[in-house]
Amino acid sequence: MPAKATKSRATTIALYLTLPLVLLGGVYYYGYRERPHRPVQPLPFSHATHTDTDKAAIPCAACHRGAEHASGAGMPADSTCMQCHLHVLPADARLAPLHAAANPHSSAYTGEPLRWVRSAPLPAHVHFHHGQHTRAGIACARCHPTPDAQLPHSMSSCLDCHRKEAVPTDCSRCHH
Ligand code: HEC
Ligand code: HEC
Ligand code: HEC
Ligand code: HEC
Ligand code: HEC
Repeated sequence: MPAKATKSRATTIALYLTLPLVLLGGVYYYGYRERPHRPVQPLPFSHATHTDTDKAAIPCAACHRGAEHASGAGMPADSTCMQCHLHVLPADARLAPLHAAANPHSSAYTGEPLRWVRSAPLPAHVHFHHGQHTRAGIACARCHPTPDAQLPHSMSSCLDCHRKEAVPTDCSRCHH
């Protein structure tokens, strides 16, 4: 076989060997990168619908009660959703998992609560308390400009505001 053909055949084989790796790498990269932003949830919940003034206009803290006083903001109980969805879109397929979780009259009822997935919680060595911040009059939107965005958890985002507001910034305030 002429050297040139061998070389091009080697190139072709190399390509076939590396292409799947490149593709896999891409899938891994994008899958890994996207997951923190949009985790797969038990049903397609939309903040836009529920905070929209023309539709449901529910205040943030009605669903995330802990945000006003506790450390974690918390997630709404399924019964909170059911208060409306017993009557709103009662037969909509998107709400089937909710009926299974919280509607004893549904034939699909299991009583197994919905498990919402946190996108990117702070590392365990950082101390953050919602109540300390909301009591100081800081609106949710200052830290969560859109509820669907990734959680605000870079150290510089904390420090920028603490410096502006003259809050002490020694390491031990936030790290234990
Ligand atoms: C105060 C009433 C209210 C509560 C509480 C409520 N919803 Fe809704 N929900 C609505 C309204 C109104 C719509 C829009 C109905 C329409 O499009 O006709 C809606 C729509 C939806 C939809 C359809 C998709 C969409 O965004 O239009 C889903 C899914 C949904 N809600 C899930 C939930 C879940 C999960 C909870 C609890 C975490 C919840 N809802 C709590 C009133 C409520
Ligand atoms: C009807 C109830 C409801 C209301 C009102 C609501 N939320 Fe949520 N929120 C949820 C549910 C359910 C989830 C989990 C599903 C998701 O992430 O979309 C969630 C998720 C979040 C998350 C992401 C948590 C994480 O770990 O990824 C943030 C931040 C958040 N909400 C902030 C807000 C803010 C700010 C408002 C007001 C503008 C608000 N929410 C209004 C029900 C609600
Ligand atoms: C000073 C910034 C700040 C303010 C103000 C703030 N949050 Fe948060 N929020 C955070 C940070 C940081 C996290 C991640 C905390 C963690 O992972 O421990 C978070 C997490 C959350 C979560 C995820 C679930 C949980 O239990 O932590 C929800 C939901 C949420 N916030 C809702 C709200 C709502 C609603 C308000 C307004 C009442 C609010 N936040 C005000 C910074 C803030
Ligand atoms: C938008 C401004 C703002 C942001 C962003 C913010 N903070 Fe704060 N933080 C404050 C203010 C104001 C106080 C003081 C509250 C008071 O007067 O009690 C405070 C107080 C604290 C305290 C208590 C300090 C003490 O010992 O007195 C801790 C801990 C803290 N923040 C952690 C964090 C962490 C961690 C983040 C980032 C994930 C963060 N904060 C982001 C404004 C902010
Ligand atoms: C206002 C709160 C706050 C203060 C003050 C603070 N940090 Fe942090 N720090 C954070 C947060 C929030 C993170 C997590 C950032 C992330 O996960 O992206 C962090 C992360 C870190 C990390 C990275 C650890 C890791 O998980 O990779 C180190 C190291 C660190 N901080 C050191 C310090 C030191 C040293 C000081 C004092 C000079 C300090 N921090 C002061 C909030 C704070």
